[in-house]
Amino acid sequence: MPGAIYAEGLVKTFGDVRALDGVDLDVPEGTVLGLLGPNGAGKTTAVRCLTTLLRPDSGKAVVAGIDVLGQPDAVRRSIGLSGQFAAVDEYLTGRENLQMVGQLYQMRAKQAKARAVELLEQFNLTDAADRPTKTYSGGMRRRLDLAAALVVSPPVMFMDEPTTGLDPRNRQQLWEVIQQLVSGGTTLLLTTQYLEEADHLAHDIAVVDHGKVIAQGTSDELKARTGGERVEVVVHEREHIRTATEVLRGFGKGDTTVEEHTRKLTVPVTGGAKLLAEVIRELDSRGIEIDDIALRRPTLDDVFLSLTGHVAEEKPEGNGEPGSKKNTRKDSRKEAVK
Ligand SMILES: Nc1ncnc2c1ncn2[C@@H]1O[C@H](COP(=O)(O)OP(=O)(O)OP(=O)(O)O)[C@@H](O)[C@H]1O
Ligand SMILES: [Mg+2]
Repeated sequence: MPGAIYAEGLVKTFGDVRALDGVDLDVPEGTVLGLLGPNGAGKTTAVRCLTTLLRPDSGKAVVAGIDVLGQPDAVRRSIGLSGQFAAVDEYLTGRENLQMVGQLYQMRAKQAKARAVELLEQFNLTDAADRPTKTYSGGMRRRLDLAAALVVSPPVMFMDEPTTGLDPRNRQQLWEVIQQLVSGGTTLLLTTQYLEEADHLAHDIAVVDHGKVIAQGTSDELKARTGGERVEVVVHEREHIRTATEVLRGFGKGDTTVEEHTRKLTVPVTGGAKLLAEVIRELDSRGIEIDDIALRRPTLDDVFLSLTGHVAEEKPEGNGEPGSKKNTRKDSRKEAVK
């Protein structure tokens, strides 16, 4: 039986761009799928196709047991969506926005009011509840938009980059809200560029690149595919990067990744703590001073690098829309050195 969100061979082209190039997904009821990929991978296009906002060129999609192309209206009644860019009415207050959504979903006025109060509280918006949302900051709009998606509790939810633009505290709170939602039985597809987020929230992760799912599995399965641990070294002098790279090549089981601006080198290894000691000795014998050295398990960043040959990159600038992303990751210029 297909899961609560199911897609088979979804294709969507825009002119020459194949935004979706045959995407298959199957999300079991009550679980979270993290759709992970860099800018332009096709995440938003996938969400828009699954939520009836966009018609795929070909392929099949079934959401909450309903055929998306055949019965879009019925699908819309069974899902909640929080888009990549917050969609709130600028002239209404936060409270009015939420009440309006409740009433659109045929809640009684009293019930809609009570639900709005609850959500305003949950998303830290109580103090700003009675201000027009055009006075809200980017993160506040984002939170209001998420709250609006949760006014009724639909069985299937889609969230497109829900935490982009949120500060760490609000991100943490949203994670908690999502966990509560899912423990209540909601099926969720969320997109993210934060590998840590997919790791934290998703039962299953689908890595997308150029409109294709290039890997799928639990976070542990994906990490296992990348194999072994990593040695991470921060050299004290920029001039030592080259020699240190040579040293690490001798110990590594794969390419060394170099982050020039932080002077950090990372290489996959097997051999644990004993090997770490050998690396330290060798660096020392070559006169390379180090600021930091560590042995760590692979992150999803490493997974992405090993699958695609490049890290998940972000646009250098936000696009000016409220809630648009800024380049928050400092390590987007990593290169794999052979
Ligand atoms: N309406 C459109 N018209 C033309 N091209 C589009 C349109 N929507 C998306 N694309 C293109 O399709 C590709 C996938 O875009 P999509 O928005 O799905 O990526 P994404 O993974 O959501 O990226 P981001 O992380 O930047 O949000 C990109 O190359 C994009 O330029
Ligand atoms: Mg997007």
